[in-house]
Amino acid sequence: MDIVILKDSEQVAVAGARALQDLLTKKPDAVLGLATGRTPLAMYRQLVAAYEKSSMSFRDATTFNLDEYLGIKPADPQSYRSYMQRELFDDIDIEMSNTHLPECVAGENPLDVGPRYEEEIRARGGIDLQVLGIGQNGHIGFNEPSSSLSSRTRVKTLTRETIANNREYFDDAASQPQLAITMGIATIMDANEILLLATGAEKAEAVRQSIEGPVSSMWPASILQMHERVTVLLDESAASALEKRDYYNWVQDQKRLLLAQIENS
Ligand code: PGA
Repeated sequence: MDIVILKDSEQVAVAGARALQDLLTKKPDAVLGLATGRTPLAMYRQLVAAYEKSSMSFRDATTFNLDEYLGIKPADPQSYRSYMQRELFDDIDIEMSNTHLPECVAGENPLDVGPRYEEEIRARGGIDLQVLGIGQNGHIGFNEPSSSLSSRTRVKTLTRETIANNREYFDDAASQPQLAITMGIATIMDANEILLLATGAEKAEAVRQSIEGPVSSMWPASILQMHERVTVLLDESAASALEKRDYYNWVQDQKRLLLAQIENS
């Protein structure tokens, strides 16, 4: 795992946006896996700013989001569809027909959404780069602890902890969904490359367990240890519980030196 410890959440946002920009420069028709929540907000702002002042384009790009609540309409301001429109899609030149969330459309059986979504991802050639946040309990997408490490897109019941963490977004507890449809852990692991962002001290334990603990469905993000191409962007607070942080910083120094040598040779 490429573990990059940055000074603050703004630097994490800048580095995350740069990774997406670099990919789109190399591959304008890239398939991006996107995340919602508090963590990627600043990265989307960076990306919109970069879009506005450069020639970058999302016209040929495709996106697949990790998850969507079940039981609220796409137009509901609290849906992840609305979040994506508001925070990114409305401000860039992406084709709406190229944006995907695991939404249960009117009349659709919720149990059919997962297999349909998997097929849509396959039909677009798979995900080039998947962006992830991490829950305080180590979830990725809404794959809560005890999720099968081989799971595919499906309906999941949220933990009480996750519901409490997202309670502030809903007017009243009764309107807050307890179910979601999420990409599975195996779906996420199929992405060619993964970018995990974590900021804030409340993520420190999940980050430590996922990077330095054993691979276990109790900390779903720990499966990323098995992926060949993962970059973890952390601010100082999220990295604060890592035992080997000095080593990770040293690895980054060595990497910079090696790249400079290669460039100068
Ligand atoms: P957050 O959520 O970015 O709002 O902390 C992350 C997650 O639950 O995956």
